[in-house]
Amino acid sequence: MEVSSSELDYKSSIDAPQSGVIELQNIQKVYDTGTIQVKALRGVSLRVERGDFVAIMGASGSGKSTLMNILGCLDIPTKGRYFLDGVNVSSLSQNELAHIRNTKIGFVFQSYNLVPRTSALRNVELPLIYGSIKKKDRHKMAMKSLKSVGLGKFAYNLPSELSGGMQQRVTIARAIVTDPAMILADEPTGALDTVSSAMIMQIFCKLSLQGRTIVLITHEPEIAAFAKRVVEVRDGRVLSDRRIVEVSSPPPNVSPDLVDQLSGATKNMATSP
Ligand SMILES: Nc1ncnc2c1ncn2[C@@H]1O[C@H](COP(=O)(O)OP(=O)(O)OP(=O)(O)O)[C@@H](O)[C@H]1O
Ligand SMILES: [Mg+2]
Repeated sequence: MEVSSSELDYKSSIDAPQSGVIELQNIQKVYDTGTIQVKALRGVSLRVERGDFVAIMGASGSGKSTLMNILGCLDIPTKGRYFLDGVNVSSLSQNELAHIRNTKIGFVFQSYNLVPRTSALRNVELPLIYGSIKKKDRHKMAMKSLKSVGLGKFAYNLPSELSGGMQQRVTIARAIVTDPAMILADEPTGALDTVSSAMIMQIFCKLSLQGRTIVLITHEPEIAAFAKRVVEVRDGRVLSDRRIVEVSSPPPNVSPDLVDQLSGATKNMATSP
């Protein structure tokens, strides 16, 4: 079933709070294993403004992946409400959720999830094919996206011909090609060496400087140090929520060269709504 944007806009107009890109209201998630019930999230409320760069941290078992699955519309909460870009996604059907995932969220996973034996360019084009964009436009948009992560020259290489860091850059290009409301990254540097990790984090900083909204899940403090805000979860609850720099400021630890290079974008960001 096709879901039109206007249909979703209509649903959203009913009770969307005038707020950020993400608004979680008292989210609870209980896994019923048959014998016991596991309370993975015990009332998480969180609001993320447009242009923010948030790291979600927590020890193993604290509920990060559960939260990521809900934020990414891959799973639904047991209780509570979730608004994404003004749409109440807690009450949508599977088809509607798939549509939201494809149009509003850019995913970056630890394991890249690229289609093998398919060029980098074609991998980046895939979300546009589902979005029924014309072939010529798809090609242009995917190429632009690959160039923005420094991989223009590798457009026709297969994932297996690229290093881990380069493959992760392809997934970032794929995540941004649809111009999503939010980029959701789960341990994006988890499988990378230090040098590749540093480069990936500078790319996230670049996206942040361009005004994109980023939620990054990590258990590494060195990675969280690039975010503008750090939220810590423990036992399914928000333990702390620290603002490091203002939403309109560049992320901390961004390389000064990058700021210079993108100063135009940063200026625009300060004036955008
Ligand atoms: N499908 C499931 N069925 C039952 N219990 C689950 C399921 N998924 C997660 N849990 C439980 O929910 C709690 C939170 O798990 P979650 O995977 O969200 O933690 P995490 O912070 O991502 O941990 P890690 O850092 O190890 O990935 C844990 O107690 C876990 O055992
Ligand atoms: Mg996890």
